[in-house]
Formats: sequence, structure tokens, C-alpha cells
Amino acid sequence: MVTMETLVSLCKRRGFVFQSSEIYGGTGSCWDYGPLGVELKNKIKRVWWRDFVQQRSDMVGLDASILMHPTVWKASGHVDHFTDPMVDCLECHHRFRADQLDELDWVHYCPATKGNKFTIPAGEACTHCQSRRTLCPDCGKGQLTPPRQFNLMFKTFMGPVEEDAAVTYLRPETAQGIFVNFENVLQSMRRKLPFGIGQIGKAFRNEITPGNFIFRTREFEQMEIEYFVNPHDTVEGRPADEYWHDRWIEDCRAWFLRYGVEAEHLRLHEHDRAELAHYSKRTADLQYRFPIGWSELMGIANRTDFDLKQHAKWSGKALTYFDEERKEHVVPYVVEPSAGVDRALLAFLADAYREEEVRGEKRVVLRFHPELAPVSVAVLPLLKKRDDIVRTALALRDELSRHWTAVYDDTAAIGRLYRRQDEVGTPYCVTVDVQTVGGSDRGEVADGKVTIRDRDSMEQIRVEASRLVAVFGDLLSGKSWADVAAGVGRA
Ligand code: GAP
Repeated sequence: MVTMETLVSLCKRRGFVFQSSEIYGGTGSCWDYGPLGVELKNKIKRVWWRDFVQQRSDMVGLDASILMHPTVWKASGHVDHFTDPMVDCLECHHRFRADQLDELDWVHYCPATKGNKFTIPAGEACTHCQSRRTLCPDCGKGQLTPPRQFNLMFKTFMGPVEEDAAVTYLRPETAQGIFVNFENVLQSMRRKLPFGIGQIGKAFRNEITPGNFIFRTREFEQMEIEYFVNPHDTVEGRPADEYWHDRWIEDCRAWFLRYGVEAEHLRLHEHDRAELAHYSKRTADLQYRFPIGWSELMGIANRTDFDLKQHAKWSGKALTYFDEERKEHVVPYVVEPSAGVDRALLAFLADAYREEEVRGEKRVVLRFHPELAPVSVAVLPLLKKRDDIVRTALALRDELSRHWTAVYDDTAAIGRLYRRQDEVGTPYCVTVDVQTVGGSDRGEVADGKVTIRDRDSMEQIRVEASRLVAVFGDLLSGKSWADVAAGVGRA
């Protein structure tokens, strides 16, 4: 498995992710997506939206505002419950989440070895003096304060006056924007249960211990669905909410597999009672084997009728659905598949990373699914000194870029250009050469064909330039390289 350091370094070097405000020394745990990172991120969001919103007749979309009425957060429970226990070291003043202390390696000055310094693995005792950690895990010297509850919401003020009446919050999840619009969507779109509302947007949490690159940050993006079901319905003999919860777990798992995550890098983690959020009947996390170990990629929760009932209570508006058959008003139950865009990106990146040996040389390749790759096609001239080759290559790039992300590069020899595209995961390169354009003064006959190179097999096929859009139409919508190559003949 690739290390986080390798990914961070690749991301910076190749324009995926940069430290935020780097020229000022950086902002803790904030990251900027560079030219390739933003393409990758946009493509993840685009396929998610297409697969879960656009293509499903039981789904609609929403884009709610980040700033909401402050009572939303009282009703949702975030003002009172969205807290983590925090402790501080009295010596080095580092801050920790009290519930995560035992997951950290700890520094120990061992009395049984004349005070020698050791770093002891998380949760283990010192093998010399058998003692366990009681002091600060980072400096090994300071006492820790008793835990204090720390609310993770970012406070801000609406309007020019910074007074209590103007306090509001940056949303810590996109979900609440969906709940408060339930009635609007129900009425305007005339939906029948079950149906879902999908939303992609930024969320903010003042995490005590952010870190691990883009895994845990204070500003991140979520792709969330609130799927409303009638709790009195049964599907295949089971309560509708339980049936749909399992269906969504399976659909989410299948989605990550479809876009290239290895099955053995995904597993399900059921929350036990202690872990369950205050609103949840059951929550299952999809965990991914990140470079930092198995961790949450997304959660799929059964939020019951908690949120709609809370908002009905605090707003005084009835948030119910009228069941025509039973002639009764019901408060729907909600199944919530909630994924982080940044974590999904990190998982796709880690899973795509390969180091291979090709003819005695190391090749780094990101084997992204073709629909996710930041660059779909790179057009490369074999000889950058030949104007006709360069002109043809630039024109092809322009044509392809009307359909996909296409780039032109002539800054190195062809072998090196291929390696550069491999390293950023470009699935296909098109090379324009002497044969493509010919040259009457040199007696070269043009065949009008270009070479397409496949990133994964490194095989090449020769195709008429005029057919490129059709060929990439096949390749980039799921047709296999083998099938396309069989159709046109290998170069
Ligand atoms: N509405 C439910 C909800 O927000 P969550 O488990 O707190 O549930 C859902 O968050 C997903 O959002 C997580 O599985 C993760 O992918 C992403 N996420 C949460 N906190 C994050 C953070 N600080 N940085 C990056 N992603 C985060």
C-alpha cells in the first residue's frame, strides 16, 4: 500500500493538491485543489450526481445555502451534542481528543532505564517498566487537563454587528439543508414515498485534531442523500426503512467498486450502541484501507423520523406526508448515505497508485477509472519542430476538448511524455507523427492516422484521426480497450 507521504508529494508535484496559503506558511489542515485535483474532484462529483440523482427516478437534487437559520442547529441537536472531548497538555500545550488518546503512539521517559526516551506503539505498555501512558503522548512530560466538551461548529455573525442575536454557524453537514426543504420539495415536485434528495456541498467542522492530509480537514465537501420512506410500509416482508438501509449500503459499496476501488480495500463497520449518533437507529460505515489504516470512507445511517420531528417541533410547521392509501399523515423515516468528496478522492487516488517495472525502469502510474481520470486524453506531437505535426496535434486537442478533458504537451521526448501522463493517470495518449501528416517535399505520404496508447497495457493502436471522437466515445464510456483494439487493429 502506498504511503501518505508518497501521495502528498505526488499531489503537490503534479498539481493535484497544494497546502492552503502556502506562501504565508500554510493554514493548518486546509488544502487547495490544483489544476488536476479540481478535475478529479469534479469528475467524482459528476459521476456521483449522474448515478445517484440524474439516473434515478426516485431522486431529485438540491443546493441549499451554507448559512442557515441558527435555530436549525438547535433543532438538529448540533448546538447541544455536536461536541468532542478535548484535553490539553500543560507542558507543550498540544491539544488532543480525549477519546483518541489511546490510538496515538506515545513518548515515554522510562525510569527503569535511567530516563531513556522511547516511542511506544499506541495502546501498548513500556516493555521495561510496564507502565502505561498517563502523560502527554507528544512530549511525554506534561500532565493532561481533564476533558472539556468542545463544540465543533464554526460560529460566525450574520450582518455587521457581532452580538449574540446575530450568531449563526457554518453548516457542519449538508443534511440539514435537505430536511428543512422537505416540504418544499414534496410540494413542488409532487413526490411519492419512497424518494430521496441528493446534495453536494461544503461543510465545516472545527476538528480538534485534523490531519492525515485531506482525510480530516476543517473545511470539506459532502455528497449526501436523505432517502425518505414510509415507516408503515414493508418491502419484501421487512420494514421499509430497514430494507432501504441495506439497499443503500449495497448501492454505495457497488459504486466505489464500479469506479475502481479494490474489493479487499473496502469493508463494512456496524456502529455499536456506544458509537451510534443521537439520531440513529442503525449506522454502518463503509471503511477503506487508507494509508493510515482502515478508516471511515462514508456512513449510511437510519436517522428515523428524528430530524423531521425536531424541525416540526422547533418551526411549528407540520413536516408530514399524506399516505393516500391509508388516509393518514406520517412522518417519513430517513436513510442517509453520506460520503465525503475529499475522502472519496483520497481513496480513489490511493487505490489507483502503482509502481511497476517496465523494461528495467520504474513506472509510476495512477490507474484511475477512465471516467475519473483528471485528463482523459493527452495529444502529443512526435516531433515538435515540424509545424504541420504540431498544428495537427493542437487541432485534435481542440476537437477532443469539446467532449473531454484533453491536453497538449510537447515539452519532452515522447517516452518521457508518456511517463508523465501515466503518473497523473491519463488513460489514453494520442501521438501525431510524420505518417499522420506526410510531407510532399520529403516524399512522405500522409495516412491521416494517429497512434492511441493505452495507459494500463501500454499497447498502441493506429486510428484515422477523423474517427478519434467516435473511438474515445467508446473508450471513455466503458467499452474495453481489448474490444476497441480488436475493432481497429493494433499498431
Ligand atoms: N450527515 C451525516 C454526516 O455528516 P458524518 O459521518 O459526520 O455524517 C459523513 O460525515 C462523511 O463526511 C464522512 O464519512 C466523511 O467521508 C466526511 N467527513 C466528515 N468529517 C470530515 C472531515 N473533518 N474531513 C473530511 N471529511 C469528513
